[in-house]
Amino acid sequence: MKDSYYEHIIHGGDYNPDQWINTKEIWDEDMRLMDLAHINSATVGIFSWSLLEPEEGVYSFSWLDEIMDKLDRHGKKVILSTPSGARPPWMAEKYPEVLRVSENGIRNEYGVRHNHCLASPVYRKKVSEINRALAERYKDHPALFMWHISNEYSGECHCELCQQAFREWLKKEYDNDIEKLNFKWWGGFWSHRYSSFSQISSPKDRGENHVPALKLAWKRFVTDSHISFYENEIAPIRELTPEIPVTTNLMRFYNGIDYQKLSEHLDIVSWDNYPEWTHPDFLGIACETAFAHDIFRSMKNGKPFYMMESTPSLINWRPVNKLPASGITELAAIQAVAHGADSVQYFQWRKGRGGHEKFHGAVVDHCGKEDTRVFRDTEKLGRVLSQLDRAVGSRTKARAAVICDWENSWAVEGYCGYRRDGRDYFKVCERWYRAFWERGIPADVVPMDRDISGYDIVVAPYLYMLKDGTVQRLSSFVQNGGTLIATCLTGIADRDDLCYLGGFPAEELKDVFGVWCEETDSLYDDELSRIAYGEKEYKGTELCDILHLIGGETLGSFLSGFYKGSPAVTKNSYGKGEAYYVAFCPGDDFISDFISPLADKKGLLPDINASLPKGVIARKRGELIYLMNFTSQSKTVDFGETYTDHLTKSVLTSAVLPEYGYLILE
Ligand code: GAL
Repeated sequence: MKDSYYEHIIHGGDYNPDQWINTKEIWDEDMRLMDLAHINSATVGIFSWSLLEPEEGVYSFSWLDEIMDKLDRHGKKVILSTPSGARPPWMAEKYPEVLRVSENGIRNEYGVRHNHCLASPVYRKKVSEINRALAERYKDHPALFMWHISNEYSGECHCELCQQAFREWLKKEYDNDIEKLNFKWWGGFWSHRYSSFSQISSPKDRGENHVPALKLAWKRFVTDSHISFYENEIAPIRELTPEIPVTTNLMRFYNGIDYQKLSEHLDIVSWDNYPEWTHPDFLGIACETAFAHDIFRSMKNGKPFYMMESTPSLINWRPVNKLPASGITELAAIQAVAHGADSVQYFQWRKGRGGHEKFHGAVVDHCGKEDTRVFRDTEKLGRVLSQLDRAVGSRTKARAAVICDWENSWAVEGYCGYRRDGRDYFKVCERWYRAFWERGIPADVVPMDRDISGYDIVVAPYLYMLKDGTVQRLSSFVQNGGTLIATCLTGIADRDDLCYLGGFPAEELKDVFGVWCEETDSLYDDELSRIAYGEKEYKGTELCDILHLIGGETLGSFLSGFYKGSPAVTKNSYGKGEAYYVAFCPGDDFISDFISPLADKKGLLPDINASLPKGVIARKRGELIYLMNFTSQSKTVDFGETYTDHLTKSVLTSAVLPEYGYLILE
């Protein structure tokens, strides 16, 4: 599989010329402005179905021909979309079954987008036909560069077709053995022993939503439904354009679909990046975004990804949509590239005159002028990106990893007990990731079924669910010399949410960590646990595991609770490696102090050998080091050695980074 598809960083975004079909002079103006802004790509046709097929079976491609040709003449790569994200009204009128049924059992009316049934044979056929027509028409078009399948797959359908499909899926999953399902789902509880698969339907408030294994099965089924819908979408595309890569745009921490599984089916991962850059905790937002980039980068083992969407200015869907200051979009773009993006793309190129998103930021505003702050910023960024060919296709080698697993996120969110609130699994993982990020030590973010043998340090926060093979993978990682860190809520349940017997964490993990957990205490929202570790006292939130040592040693103890004095941080030597158990929910301070010596011991070096001021983050990708100032003050950095500024070619031993500034060093 190729690591890059173009020799330059892709700079472009969603382009909707179909909204301007009656004012075609705008199309020519778009070309002129795109050239000016160093735009080299356009993503076309995402929501064009009603123009592409105005009547059933009647295709109208002339406008798209014209746009594809125009874009080609201007040297732009076209990322051509399949239009399944929104359908023409005639289709819903004629075939209501294409519409989604919500959890309440009522079929939606025509409207909005993403409102389709995933199982509907009619919809699948219609999608396949339009995709085939597009692929046939443009397969030899010189501008065709990549396929963008649909838009942000999401949601679920509860229609009778989907229920049937779910039951068939369950039969396969449980070997057509209802007793196996009854055992796995602990059917004795509340008299839930099914005698037939036909008695099961999707989880819902007016029906069954208290069987944890059902909820997990449904999410797996919804994931597989999306994958099969996607496979149906790409079948004609693969057949007619086998050389053209295929992607679909993913959304940050959306966990309605197991993205880690879906990504296996994509040629290249792409995602839509909309951080709240105007939030007062700018550094926190930068860390969250870095974490997201590394999740997507890690999906295909470090292969570069595309940042398919981002806003060049503001968004329109938060309660308050504040304008980010100049420089922030550029810094965000550089951050994406530093973390492995081979593209910087926007939603959207030009603001529409009407519709729900008419006030969403765009490179070209309603004024239509190039003499605007946003246009100038985009043009400047375009120039920078055109100097980053060396970045394209390059990778980052990480020796640390954080396990953050989509299926585990469902399990952590789904069980009933301990605390109802504060279960932000992705946030907990990000907190551990941050200790590496702030030090400039690259970390991968991987699912629990990934081969981890190549890492030196692996952190597995809240690893509540264990999939088949996880215990073995973790224990051989430590056996072979790895450093493993787990936290409270580890090794509790299997993939059907059946608790392990014999004490947590499950099975040999007790030997690996040299501890077992007898009880878990939950704290009230305003309650903190107190922990003595090293010379300091730390505070924890949410949960505390009450541990027994079985070979492990205590490094830190609880100072609070009736379990005062019991181990809060433990270490165990196992094989050639070490396993640490952090029995509470620590804050950034503890995590940072805890990770630092472990990283030093393993020789995990920062990407730049200079002590960086707080808020300045370094990241090496390929041969270039990106130094980013995520603060609103200028910062001076002494490198201690000589670097060349990649953009200006000046030789530097120190530099002043302006607010939200960055440097790219060779
Ligand atoms: C994305 C979506 C785009 C647009 C954008 C606005 O999630 O893919 O079509 O709606 O949000 O921020």
